[in-house]
Amino acid sequence: MPVLTNIERCSRYEGQEVELRGWLYNRRKSGRIAFLQLRDGTGIIQCIAEKSVLGEELFTRIRRLPQESSLVLRGTVGADPRSPSGFEIRVTGVEVIQEAQPYPITKKSHGTAFLSDHRHLWIRSRRQQAILRIRHLAGRAIRDYLDDNGFLLLDSPILTPNACEGTSTLFATEYFGRPAYLAQSGQLYQEAGAMAFGKTYCFGPTFRAEKSDTRRHLTEFWMVEPEVAFADLDDTMDLCEDFLVQVVGRVLQDGLAHLQVLERDLSPLQRVRKPFPRISYDEACLRLARLGTPVEPEDDFGAPHETALANSFDRPVMVHRYPRAVKAFYMKADPENPARALGVDVLAPEGYGEIIGGGQREDDLSELEAQVNRHGLPMSAFQWYMDLRRYGSCPHGGFGLGFERFVTWLCGVPHIREAAAFPRTLERLEP
Ligand code: 4AD
Ligand code: MG
Repeated sequence: MPVLTNIERCSRYEGQEVELRGWLYNRRKSGRIAFLQLRDGTGIIQCIAEKSVLGEELFTRIRRLPQESSLVLRGTVGADPRSPSGFEIRVTGVEVIQEAQPYPITKKSHGTAFLSDHRHLWIRSRRQQAILRIRHLAGRAIRDYLDDNGFLLLDSPILTPNACEGTSTLFATEYFGRPAYLAQSGQLYQEAGAMAFGKTYCFGPTFRAEKSDTRRHLTEFWMVEPEVAFADLDDTMDLCEDFLVQVVGRVLQDGLAHLQVLERDLSPLQRVRKPFPRISYDEACLRLARLGTPVEPEDDFGAPHETALANSFDRPVMVHRYPRAVKAFYMKADPENPARALGVDVLAPEGYGEIIGGGQREDDLSELEAQVNRHGLPMSAFQWYMDLRRYGSCPHGGFGLGFERFVTWLCGVPHIREAAAFPRTLERLEP
């Protein structure tokens, strides 16, 4: 009886007969031999089918089998130094489960619109699998880091009565006759969590009706948001730094084979070491002017500024104390300069831009009320949030890491759409 296994584990069965279940990825024929590449989600392996073993009828069928036909294949595992896995299969038997129709994604290069229309099939390809495996490993590394460092997972709601990150990107819906919004961030609920448990996090989907069609924006993206009680801006920056060093290190360790499939230059990831440079917005503006990418006074940075700034360092850079006017209502004013907010953005190298936004929160009730009014937000929706300042308020802070932006950078791919299995963008709700 052959051993039922998968491609990843084949190496354990050298010289034995195994059974694999998968799909035909590619094939090549030469006379009385057919070379089949079988994929099963754990890997791809070359299988050698011979007419003398399979018989005329089956061999003829196999030679013509369309890509992505589903198969149960039996064969003997042999070492093959030329194959990427180091092994190949000498086929002893094949059962065709379904003969696929002509597969739309072929060897020839397709445009991104075509591939995006076929995203449900595109995720079967080697590169997309490597990216989604890195995403999985990065998610696990993130959860492990937070779980091992005393954070409690506290899931923030998706349906909310109020805005968190400004009203211009809200997805509105109707909630039994009342307005409701899809969460832009889980932060406000994590602040409640931190006041209850000390350290909490959420890691889930967030939504922004981004009207801009860029390489960095999705309308639905995942965010991991840790929040810590009795933490100031410096503590928050220490957390960002330690978090990134540990998580990137773990992905390099666990995901090396996938990064190699992507031909990722590892050196920018290997340079993610402490300490990260920390510069204020005002220092950053001077530097940007010197670099020939000046910023309008008191303006937020755009993608070209972030890229120029990040390129002037060899590792992620933390920019703190942005103008309060360009940042969210909940940020605490810098006591030394009330025009500046105690916030921090972490900019990734290689032009990937802002991957983290965070900082210290306004913990004073009357200041926070004034901010809600200044931003024209409805006070009634924030009464519960004000309670956190009424009952045991304390300095606290946290951050949000945009998970797809992070994965895009880890993988070194040009566009954020490849970092989600089924990306949602301005133009795309399907598939
Ligand atoms: O800087 P943002 O808006 O910060 C917050 O939402 C805070 N409430 C987080 C917190 O402190 N708990 O967003 C955080 C990160 C950004 O740095 C970026 O990586 C990502 O979320 N992000 C997006 N990613 C993909 N598509 C979009 N449209 C994004 N908008 C923000
Ligand atoms: Mg931001």
